[in-house]
Amino acid sequence: MLSENVEKILNKQIADEAYSSRLYLAMAVWCDHSSLSGAAHFFYHQSDEERGHMKRIIQYVNRVGGRVVISDTKGPPVEYKSLKDVIEEAYEHEKSMTVAIVKLVDTSLEKKDYATFDFLQWFVTEQVEEEAMLKSLLDRFNLVGTDAHGTFIMDKEMGSREA
Ligand code: FEO
Repeated sequence: MLSENVEKILNKQIADEAYSSRLYLAMAVWCDHSSLSGAAHFFYHQSDEERGHMKRIIQYVNRVGGRVVISDTKGPPVEYKSLKDVIEEAYEHEKSMTVAIVKLVDTSLEKKDYATFDFLQWFVTEQVEEEAMLKSLLDRFNLVGTDAHGTFIMDKEMGSREA
């Protein structure tokens, strides 16, 4: 049985994951429009993953007898200055998602909701991986340079993403 507080912040996390999916979709669209097809592939994939995160929480809340509320999400930004700008924004976004997950973990422990605490461990690991992936992209971008040549190389690399 979910406490009211845990149910509320799980619903907030559902909305945040939905926003993440839309944010990455908007980034993919910008990349596609800018002829950066590799980066577009990367962010379309990331958008699908975030939708998967949203569904994972929805199914958990239903499984433990909570009530899911699907709320409106704000529209993500549509304009970016460069591919490097897109990746930086994505990295900052993931850092804020980690803060939200940590808050959820804290609340589940506070409420002695060990089932939710256990459920959230997958997200804790996922956040470590997502932050590391974006940080590594940024580091490599800085190594190759952020001019047109560097952008071309990074776009190609991002296009090889499989999972
Ligand atoms: Fe579902 Fe990338 O946080």
